[in-house]
Amino acid sequence: MESKMKIIGGTPLKGRVLAQGAKNAALPVMAAAILLKGEKLTINRVPNLLDVVTMADLLRSLGASVQFKDQKMEISTPLDISWETPPDLVRKMRASSLVLGPLLARCGKAVMPLPGGCSIGSRPIDLHLKGLTRMGASIELVHGAVHAQAGVLKGCRIYLDFPSVGATENLMMAAVFARGETILENTAREPEIFNLVDALRSMGAIIEADGTGVIRIQGVEGLKSSSANIIPDRVEASTYILAGAATNGEVTVANIIPNHIDSLLAKLEEAGALLSVSDTEVTIYPSGRLKSVSLKTLPYPGFPTDLQPQVMAALCLAEGTSVVQESVFQSRFLHVSELNKMGARIDIQSNSAIINGVESLAGADVLATDLRAGAALIIAGLAARDTTCVHNLGHIFRGYEKLEDKLRAIGANISILPSEEDVKGVSELPRS
Ligand code: UD1
Repeated sequence: MESKMKIIGGTPLKGRVLAQGAKNAALPVMAAAILLKGEKLTINRVPNLLDVVTMADLLRSLGASVQFKDQKMEISTPLDISWETPPDLVRKMRASSLVLGPLLARCGKAVMPLPGGCSIGSRPIDLHLKGLTRMGASIELVHGAVHAQAGVLKGCRIYLDFPSVGATENLMMAAVFARGETILENTAREPEIFNLVDALRSMGAIIEADGTGVIRIQGVEGLKSSSANIIPDRVEASTYILAGAATNGEVTVANIIPNHIDSLLAKLEEAGALLSVSDTEVTIYPSGRLKSVSLKTLPYPGFPTDLQPQVMAALCLAEGTSVVQESVFQSRFLHVSELNKMGARIDIQSNSAIINGVESLAGADVLATDLRAGAALIIAGLAARDTTCVHNLGHIFRGYEKLEDKLRAIGANISILPSEEDVKGVSELPRS
Protein backbone atom coordinates (compact mmCIF):
# COMPACT_ATOMS: atom_id res chain seq x y z
CA MET A 1 0.00 0.00 0.00
CA GLU A 2 1.22 3.53 -0.73
CA SER A 3 2.19 5.59 2.29
CA LYS A 4 1.74 9.25 3.06
CA MET A 5 3.64 11.69 5.24
CA LYS A 6 1.68 13.71 7.78
CA ILE A 7 3.48 16.92 8.65
CA ILE A 8 2.48 19.39 11.35
CA GLY A 9 4.36 22.43 10.12
CA GLY A 10 5.28 25.88 11.25
CA THR A 11 8.24 25.05 13.52
CA PRO A 12 11.76 26.22 12.62
CA LEU A 13 14.04 23.20 12.12
CA LYS A 14 17.17 23.04 14.24
CA GLY A 15 20.01 20.55 14.23
CA ARG A 16 22.53 18.61 12.23
CA VAL A 17 22.05 16.16 9.36
CA LEU A 18 24.66 13.83 7.84
CA ALA A 19 24.40 13.62 4.07
CA GLN A 20 23.96 10.24 2.39
CA GLY A 21 26.10 8.98 -0.51
CA ALA A 22 24.90 10.32 -3.85
CA LYS A 23 22.18 8.26 -5.54
CA ASN A 24 23.16 9.58 -8.94
CA ALA A 25 26.79 8.57 -8.41
CA ALA A 26 26.07 5.15 -6.90
CA LEU A 27 23.83 4.00 -9.78
CA PRO A 28 26.40 4.43 -12.62
CA VAL A 29 29.25 3.05 -10.48
CA MET A 30 27.11 -0.03 -9.79
CA ALA A 31 26.44 -0.38 -13.54
CA ALA A 32 30.20 -0.20 -14.15
CA ALA A 33 30.58 -3.53 -12.31
CA ILE A 34 29.09 -5.18 -15.43
CA LEU A 35 32.45 -4.51 -17.12
CA LEU A 36 34.24 -6.92 -14.73
CA LYS A 37 34.73 -10.59 -15.61
CA GLY A 38 35.17 -12.89 -12.63
CA GLU A 39 36.19 -9.90 -10.49
CA LYS A 40 34.69 -7.85 -7.67
CA LEU A 41 33.82 -4.18 -7.17
CA THR A 42 33.44 -2.92 -3.59
CA ILE A 43 31.54 0.35 -3.28
CA ASN A 44 31.51 2.39 -0.06
CA ARG A 45 28.92 4.94 1.12
CA VAL A 46 26.09 3.53 -0.98
CA PRO A 47 22.73 4.98 0.09
CA ASN A 48 20.00 2.49 0.94
CA LEU A 49 17.35 3.66 -1.52
CA LEU A 50 14.70 2.09 -3.72
CA ASP A 51 16.60 3.01 -6.91
CA VAL A 52 19.76 1.39 -5.56
CA VAL A 53 17.81 -1.77 -4.71
CA THR A 54 16.34 -1.77 -8.23
CA MET A 55 19.82 -1.47 -9.78
CA ALA A 56 21.10 -4.27 -7.50
CA ASP A 57 18.20 -6.48 -8.64
CA LEU A 58 18.94 -5.62 -12.25
CA LEU A 59 22.59 -6.65 -11.82
CA ARG A 60 21.51 -9.87 -10.10
CA SER A 61 19.14 -10.62 -12.97
CA LEU A 62 22.15 -10.42 -15.30
CA GLY A 63 24.03 -12.98 -13.17
CA ALA A 64 26.06 -10.78 -10.79
CA SER A 65 26.09 -11.44 -7.05
CA VAL A 66 25.36 -8.32 -4.99
CA GLN A 67 25.84 -8.03 -1.21
CA PHE A 68 24.72 -4.81 0.46
CA LYS A 69 25.09 -4.01 4.14
CA ASP A 70 25.81 -0.86 6.15
CA GLN A 71 26.42 1.33 3.08
CA LYS A 72 28.96 -1.15 1.69
CA MET A 73 28.14 -2.97 -1.53
CA GLU A 74 30.10 -5.82 -3.08
CA ILE A 75 29.32 -6.78 -6.65
CA SER A 76 30.94 -9.93 -8.05
CA THR A 77 30.46 -10.39 -11.74
CA PRO A 78 30.93 -13.89 -13.19
CA LEU A 79 32.71 -14.75 -16.44
CA ASP A 80 29.40 -15.10 -18.26
CA ILE A 81 26.50 -12.74 -17.79
CA SER A 82 23.19 -12.30 -19.53
CA TRP A 83 22.84 -9.49 -22.07
CA GLU A 84 19.04 -9.37 -21.84
CA THR A 85 17.54 -7.07 -19.20
CA PRO A 86 14.17 -7.85 -17.57
CA PRO A 87 11.44 -5.32 -18.58
CA ASP A 88 9.84 -5.13 -15.11
CA LEU A 89 13.08 -3.89 -13.51
CA VAL A 90 14.15 -1.61 -16.35
CA ARG A 91 10.77 0.13 -16.45
CA LYS A 92 11.02 0.99 -12.74
CA MET A 93 13.66 3.67 -13.27
CA ARG A 94 15.28 5.67 -16.02
CA ALA A 95 18.79 5.02 -14.69
CA SER A 96 18.40 1.38 -15.82
CA SER A 97 19.52 2.65 -19.21
CA LEU A 98 23.03 2.90 -17.68
CA VAL A 99 23.49 -0.85 -18.14
CA LEU A 100 23.24 -0.57 -21.93
CA GLY A 101 26.76 0.79 -22.57
CA PRO A 102 28.61 -1.63 -20.28
CA LEU A 103 26.55 -4.63 -21.48
CA LEU A 104 27.27 -3.85 -25.10
CA ALA A 105 30.97 -3.31 -24.36
CA ARG A 106 31.22 -6.55 -22.48
CA CYS A 107 28.86 -8.94 -24.31
CA GLY A 108 28.87 -7.39 -27.80
CA LYS A 109 25.08 -7.24 -27.65
CA ALA A 110 22.29 -6.09 -25.36
CA VAL A 111 18.50 -6.03 -25.21
CA MET A 112 16.91 -3.35 -23.05
CA PRO A 113 13.29 -2.14 -22.93
CA LEU A 114 12.97 1.65 -22.97
CA PRO A 115 13.27 2.72 -19.31
CA GLY A 116 10.82 4.42 -16.94
CA GLY A 117 11.52 6.81 -14.06
CA CYS A 118 10.22 10.14 -12.84
CA SER A 119 7.38 11.66 -14.82
CA ILE A 120 9.20 14.87 -15.70
CA GLY A 121 8.53 15.33 -19.37
CA SER A 122 9.83 13.46 -22.35
CA ARG A 123 13.14 11.82 -21.52
CA PRO A 124 14.49 10.13 -24.63
CA ILE A 125 17.78 8.21 -24.81
CA ASP A 126 18.52 9.19 -28.42
CA LEU A 127 21.94 10.66 -27.51
CA HIS A 128 22.98 7.36 -25.89
CA LEU A 129 21.88 5.42 -28.98
CA LYS A 130 23.43 7.88 -31.45
CA GLY A 131 26.79 7.64 -29.65
CA LEU A 132 26.71 3.84 -29.53
CA THR A 133 25.84 3.77 -33.24
CA ARG A 134 28.88 5.96 -33.99
CA MET A 135 30.97 3.42 -32.10
CA GLY A 136 29.80 0.77 -34.56
CA ALA A 137 26.73 -0.72 -32.84
CA SER A 138 23.68 -1.55 -34.91
CA ILE A 139 20.55 -0.61 -33.01
CA GLU A 140 16.93 -1.55 -33.65
CA LEU A 141 13.80 -0.79 -31.67
CA VAL A 142 11.65 -3.92 -31.47
CA HIS A 143 8.34 -3.74 -29.53
CA GLY A 144 9.62 -0.85 -27.38
CA ALA A 145 12.94 -2.55 -26.61
CA VAL A 146 16.41 -1.52 -27.77
CA HIS A 147 18.22 -4.39 -29.51
CA ALA A 148 21.90 -3.47 -29.83
CA GLN A 149 24.57 -5.55 -31.54
CA ALA A 150 28.21 -4.62 -31.89
CA GLY A 151 30.81 -7.35 -31.73
CA VAL A 152 33.64 -5.05 -30.71
CA LEU A 153 32.98 -1.31 -30.42
CA LYS A 154 35.34 1.09 -32.19
CA GLY A 155 36.83 4.22 -30.65
CA CYS A 156 35.73 7.44 -32.36
CA ARG A 157 34.92 11.10 -31.73
CA ILE A 158 31.41 11.77 -30.40
CA TYR A 159 29.99 15.26 -29.91
CA LEU A 160 26.94 15.28 -27.62
CA ASP A 161 24.25 17.71 -28.80
CA PHE A 162 23.42 18.30 -25.12
CA PRO A 163 25.66 17.51 -22.11
CA SER A 164 23.45 14.63 -21.00
CA VAL A 165 24.54 13.03 -17.73
CA GLY A 166 23.30 9.54 -18.61
CA ALA A 167 24.64 9.61 -22.18
CA THR A 168 28.09 10.73 -20.95
CA GLU A 169 28.14 7.87 -18.41
CA ASN A 170 26.82 5.23 -20.79
CA LEU A 171 29.21 6.15 -23.61
CA MET A 172 32.18 6.37 -21.25
CA MET A 173 31.48 2.84 -19.99
CA ALA A 174 30.90 1.57 -23.55
CA ALA A 175 34.26 3.05 -24.60
CA VAL A 176 36.29 1.25 -21.92
CA PHE A 177 36.74 -1.84 -24.14
CA ALA A 178 36.43 -0.10 -27.53
CA ARG A 179 39.27 -0.52 -30.01
CA GLY A 180 41.48 2.59 -29.92
CA GLU A 181 40.62 6.01 -28.53
CA THR A 182 37.14 7.46 -27.94
CA ILE A 183 36.85 11.22 -27.53
CA LEU A 184 33.57 12.44 -26.00
CA GLU A 185 32.91 16.15 -26.51
CA ASN A 186 30.41 18.48 -24.84
CA THR A 187 30.03 15.96 -22.03
CA ALA A 188 28.22 16.53 -18.75
CA ARG A 189 30.47 17.92 -15.98
CA GLU A 190 28.39 16.94 -12.95
CA PRO A 191 30.44 15.74 -9.93
CA GLU A 192 28.84 12.30 -10.36
CA ILE A 193 30.56 11.96 -13.77
CA PHE A 194 33.98 12.32 -12.10
CA ASN A 195 33.00 9.82 -9.42
CA LEU A 196 32.41 7.30 -12.22
CA VAL A 197 35.70 8.30 -13.91
CA ASP A 198 37.56 7.64 -10.63
CA ALA A 199 35.83 4.28 -10.15
CA LEU A 200 36.59 3.15 -13.72
CA ARG A 201 40.22 4.29 -13.43
CA SER A 202 40.64 2.35 -10.21
CA MET A 203 39.40 -0.72 -12.11
CA GLY A 204 42.12 -0.17 -14.74
CA ALA A 205 40.36 1.94 -17.37
CA ILE A 206 42.43 4.63 -19.09
CA ILE A 207 40.43 7.86 -19.00
CA GLU A 208 41.42 11.52 -19.16
CA ALA A 209 38.78 13.94 -17.90
CA ASP A 210 39.88 17.40 -16.86
CA GLY A 211 36.48 19.02 -16.33
CA THR A 212 36.43 20.90 -19.66
CA GLY A 213 33.66 18.77 -21.17
CA VAL A 214 36.06 16.56 -23.16
CA ILE A 215 36.68 12.98 -22.01
CA ARG A 216 39.25 10.71 -23.71
CA ILE A 217 39.10 6.97 -23.18
CA GLN A 218 41.75 4.51 -24.44
CA GLY A 219 40.27 1.03 -24.89
CA VAL A 220 41.73 -1.73 -22.69
CA GLU A 221 41.37 -5.53 -22.79
CA GLY A 222 39.96 -6.06 -19.29
CA LEU A 223 39.42 -4.54 -15.85
CA LYS A 224 40.34 -5.76 -12.37
CA SER A 225 38.78 -5.95 -8.90
CA SER A 226 38.74 -2.64 -7.13
CA SER A 227 36.93 -0.42 -4.65
CA ALA A 228 35.23 2.94 -5.08
CA ASN A 229 33.86 5.61 -2.73
CA ILE A 230 30.62 7.41 -3.48
CA ILE A 231 30.59 11.20 -3.14
CA PRO A 232 28.07 12.97 -0.88
CA ASP A 233 24.59 13.56 -2.28
CA ARG A 234 24.47 17.26 -3.19
CA VAL A 235 20.73 17.15 -3.91
CA GLU A 236 19.82 15.50 -0.61
CA ALA A 237 22.11 17.87 1.31
CA SER A 238 20.61 20.90 -0.45
CA THR A 239 17.09 19.71 0.33
CA TYR A 240 17.82 19.89 4.08
CA ILE A 241 19.44 23.32 3.69
CA LEU A 242 16.32 24.53 1.87
CA ALA A 243 14.11 23.02 4.58
CA GLY A 244 16.12 25.14 7.05
CA ALA A 245 15.66 28.22 4.86
CA ALA A 246 11.90 27.72 4.43
CA THR A 247 11.30 27.23 8.16
CA ASN A 248 13.68 30.05 9.18
CA GLY A 249 15.60 27.45 11.15
CA GLU A 250 19.22 26.61 11.89
CA VAL A 251 20.33 23.49 10.04
CA THR A 252 23.82 22.11 9.54
CA VAL A 253 24.39 19.58 6.81
CA ALA A 254 27.63 17.66 7.32
CA ASN A 255 29.78 15.22 5.36
CA ILE A 256 29.33 17.14 2.13
CA ILE A 257 31.53 18.81 -0.49
CA PRO A 258 30.26 22.40 -0.26
CA ASN A 259 31.61 23.51 -3.64
CA HIS A 260 29.30 20.96 -5.30
CA ILE A 261 26.41 23.17 -4.17
CA ASP A 262 27.92 26.59 -4.97
CA SER A 263 25.03 27.52 -7.26
CA LEU A 264 22.50 27.02 -4.45
CA LEU A 265 24.64 28.78 -1.82
CA ALA A 266 25.08 31.78 -4.14
CA LYS A 267 21.30 32.05 -4.67
CA LEU A 268 20.59 31.70 -0.95
CA GLU A 269 23.09 34.46 -0.17
CA GLU A 270 21.49 36.65 -2.82
CA ALA A 271 18.14 35.98 -1.12
CA GLY A 272 19.58 37.22 2.19
CA ALA A 273 20.15 33.87 3.91
CA LEU A 274 22.88 33.68 6.55
CA LEU A 275 25.25 30.82 5.86
CA SER A 276 28.52 29.47 7.15
CA VAL A 277 30.59 27.10 5.04
CA SER A 278 33.51 24.92 6.15
CA ASP A 279 35.42 22.20 4.26
CA THR A 280 32.72 19.58 4.81
CA GLU A 281 29.68 21.37 6.26
CA VAL A 282 27.19 24.10 5.55
CA THR A 283 25.00 25.76 8.18
CA ILE A 284 22.04 27.96 7.41
CA TYR A 285 20.93 30.34 10.20
CA PRO A 286 17.61 32.10 10.80
CA SER A 287 17.56 35.32 8.80
CA GLY A 288 13.87 36.24 8.68
CA ARG A 289 12.00 36.23 5.41
CA LEU A 290 14.07 35.51 2.26
CA LYS A 291 14.07 38.05 -0.58
CA SER A 292 12.92 36.97 -4.03
CA VAL A 293 15.56 35.78 -6.51
CA SER A 294 15.45 34.56 -10.09
CA LEU A 295 17.27 31.57 -11.50
CA LYS A 296 17.50 29.24 -14.46
CA THR A 297 18.28 25.53 -14.26
CA LEU A 298 21.30 24.48 -16.31
CA PRO A 299 23.74 21.58 -16.57
CA TYR A 300 26.45 21.65 -13.86
CA PRO A 301 27.97 23.98 -12.70
CA GLY A 302 24.68 25.79 -13.30
CA PHE A 303 21.71 25.58 -10.94
CA PRO A 304 20.58 21.90 -10.82
CA THR A 305 17.17 20.97 -12.18
CA ASP A 306 16.99 18.42 -9.34
CA LEU A 307 16.73 21.32 -6.87
CA GLN A 308 14.26 23.42 -8.82
CA PRO A 309 11.12 22.14 -7.03
CA GLN A 310 12.70 22.44 -3.56
CA VAL A 311 14.03 25.96 -4.12
CA MET A 312 10.60 26.93 -5.43
CA ALA A 313 9.04 25.72 -2.18
CA ALA A 314 11.34 28.08 -0.24
CA LEU A 315 10.76 30.98 -2.67
CA CYS A 316 6.96 30.69 -2.26
CA LEU A 317 7.54 32.39 1.10
CA ALA A 318 10.06 35.01 -0.08
CA GLU A 319 9.31 38.71 -0.22
CA GLY A 320 8.64 39.83 -3.80
CA THR A 321 8.43 38.01 -7.12
CA SER A 322 10.89 35.28 -8.12
CA VAL A 323 11.20 33.77 -11.58
CA VAL A 324 12.41 30.18 -11.94
CA GLN A 325 13.16 29.06 -15.47
CA GLU A 326 13.48 25.33 -16.20
CA SER A 327 15.76 24.69 -19.15
CA VAL A 328 16.82 21.06 -18.65
CA PHE A 329 13.49 19.18 -18.61
CA GLN A 330 10.08 19.80 -20.14
CA SER A 331 7.06 19.65 -17.81
CA ARG A 332 9.00 19.77 -14.55
CA PHE A 333 6.37 21.94 -12.90
CA LEU A 334 3.93 19.30 -11.66
CA HIS A 335 4.55 20.42 -8.05
CA VAL A 336 3.23 23.92 -8.82
CA SER A 337 -0.47 23.09 -8.63
CA GLU A 338 0.18 21.27 -5.34
CA LEU A 339 2.12 24.24 -3.87
CA ASN A 340 -0.72 26.53 -4.97
CA LYS A 341 -3.15 24.34 -3.03
CA MET A 342 -1.13 25.27 0.04
CA GLY A 343 -1.62 28.97 -0.64
CA ALA A 344 1.40 29.66 -2.87
CA ARG A 345 0.88 32.06 -5.77
CA ILE A 346 2.74 30.62 -8.72
CA ASP A 347 1.90 31.09 -12.41
CA ILE A 348 3.46 29.09 -15.18
CA GLN A 349 4.37 30.83 -18.39
CA SER A 350 5.92 28.42 -20.85
CA ASN A 351 9.08 27.08 -19.14
CA SER A 352 9.11 29.72 -16.37
CA ALA A 353 7.37 29.82 -13.01
CA ILE A 354 6.51 33.28 -11.71
CA ILE A 355 6.38 33.03 -7.93
CA ASN A 356 4.64 35.84 -6.05
CA GLY A 357 5.85 35.38 -2.50
CA VAL A 358 3.26 34.97 0.27
CA GLU A 359 3.70 35.46 4.01
CA SER A 360 2.60 31.96 4.96
CA LEU A 361 1.46 28.64 3.51
CA ALA A 362 -1.40 26.53 4.85
CA GLY A 363 -1.41 22.73 5.21
CA ALA A 364 -3.24 20.68 2.56
CA ASP A 365 -3.45 17.19 1.05
CA VAL A 366 -0.95 17.09 -1.79
CA LEU A 367 0.41 14.54 -4.21
CA ALA A 368 4.09 13.86 -4.87
CA THR A 369 4.22 13.44 -8.65
CA ASP A 370 7.93 12.69 -8.74
CA LEU A 371 10.92 12.40 -6.44
CA ARG A 372 12.01 16.04 -6.17
CA ALA A 373 8.46 17.40 -6.39
CA GLY A 374 7.75 15.28 -3.33
CA ALA A 375 10.75 16.78 -1.53
CA ALA A 376 9.45 20.27 -2.37
CA LEU A 377 6.04 19.47 -0.88
CA ILE A 378 7.67 18.21 2.31
CA ILE A 379 9.64 21.47 2.59
CA ALA A 380 6.43 23.45 2.04
CA GLY A 381 4.60 21.28 4.59
CA LEU A 382 7.32 21.86 7.20
CA ALA A 383 6.98 25.61 6.73
CA ALA A 384 3.17 25.69 6.50
CA ARG A 385 0.60 26.31 9.23
CA ASP A 386 -1.43 23.24 10.28
CA THR A 387 -1.26 19.76 8.83
CA THR A 388 -0.05 18.71 5.40
CA CYS A 389 -0.35 15.17 4.03
CA VAL A 390 2.03 14.31 1.22
CA HIS A 391 0.68 11.30 -0.70
CA ASN A 392 2.57 8.93 -3.04
CA LEU A 393 5.64 8.84 -0.81
CA GLY A 394 7.05 5.94 -2.83
CA HIS A 395 8.64 8.45 -5.19
CA ILE A 396 10.46 10.10 -2.32
CA PHE A 397 12.00 6.86 -1.01
CA ARG A 398 13.66 6.48 -4.41
CA GLY A 399 16.03 9.28 -3.42
CA TYR A 400 16.04 10.06 0.31
CA GLU A 401 17.47 7.61 2.84
CA LYS A 402 16.07 7.71 6.41
CA LEU A 403 14.16 10.85 5.51
CA GLU A 404 11.77 10.47 8.42
CA ASP A 405 14.56 9.96 11.00
CA LYS A 406 16.67 12.79 9.67
CA LEU A 407 13.78 15.26 9.66
CA ARG A 408 12.64 14.22 13.13
CA ALA A 409 16.17 14.64 14.48
CA ILE A 410 16.05 18.31 13.47
CA GLY A 411 12.68 18.89 15.07
CA ALA A 412 10.14 18.10 12.35
CA ASN A 413 6.75 16.89 13.55
CA ILE A 414 6.09 14.14 10.99
CA SER A 415 4.71 10.65 10.79
CA ILE A 416 4.45 8.13 7.98
CA LEU A 417 1.09 6.45 7.64
CA PRO A 418 -0.44 4.01 5.20
CA SER A 419 -2.50 5.93 2.67
CA GLU A 420 -6.09 4.73 2.89
CA GLU A 421 -7.06 6.69 -0.21
CA ASP A 422 -6.56 5.14 -3.60
CA VAL A 423 -4.44 8.05 -4.82
CA LYS A 424 -4.51 7.94 -8.58
CA GLY A 425 -4.93 11.60 -9.35
CA VAL A 426 -4.97 14.91 -7.60
CA SER A 427 -8.72 15.28 -8.16
CA GLU A 428 -9.40 12.24 -5.99
CA LEU A 429 -7.64 13.67 -2.94
CA PRO A 430 -9.56 14.93 0.04
CA ARG A 431 -9.27 18.71 0.36
CA SER A 432 -8.32 20.43 3.55
C1 UD1 B 1 20.43 12.63 -14.61
C2 UD1 B 1 20.02 12.47 -13.19
C3 UD1 B 1 18.74 13.26 -12.91
C4 UD1 B 1 18.93 14.72 -13.31
C5 UD1 B 1 19.45 14.84 -14.73
C6 UD1 B 1 19.83 16.25 -15.13
C7 UD1 B 1 20.80 10.24 -12.70
C8 UD1 B 1 20.47 8.84 -12.37
N1 UD1 B 1 19.77 11.05 -12.93
O1 UD1 B 1 19.37 12.11 -15.41
O2 UD1 B 1 18.46 13.17 -11.51
O3 UD1 B 1 17.70 15.40 -13.23
O4 UD1 B 1 20.64 14.02 -14.87
O5 UD1 B 1 20.75 16.78 -14.26
O6 UD1 B 1 21.96 10.63 -12.70
N2 UD1 B 1 18.04 14.04 -23.23
C9 UD1 B 1 17.73 13.82 -24.54
N3 UD1 B 1 18.26 12.71 -25.13
C10 UD1 B 1 19.08 11.85 -24.47
C11 UD1 B 1 19.38 12.10 -23.14
C12 UD1 B 1 18.84 13.21 -22.52
O7 UD1 B 1 17.01 14.57 -25.16
O8 UD1 B 1 19.52 10.87 -25.06
C13 UD1 B 1 17.44 15.21 -22.55
C14 UD1 B 1 16.49 14.78 -21.45
O9 UD1 B 1 15.22 14.51 -21.95
C15 UD1 B 1 16.51 16.00 -20.55
C16 UD1 B 1 17.96 16.48 -20.68
O10 UD1 B 1 18.46 15.92 -21.88
O11 UD1 B 1 15.64 16.97 -21.04
C17 UD1 B 1 18.86 16.08 -19.51
O12 UD1 B 1 18.89 14.67 -19.42
P1 UD1 B 1 20.14 13.88 -18.83
O13 UD1 B 1 21.25 14.83 -18.50
O14 UD1 B 1 20.43 12.75 -19.75
O15 UD1 B 1 19.53 13.33 -17.50
P2 UD1 B 1 19.56 11.84 -16.95
O16 UD1 B 1 20.91 11.26 -17.17
O17 UD1 B 1 18.39 11.11 -17.39
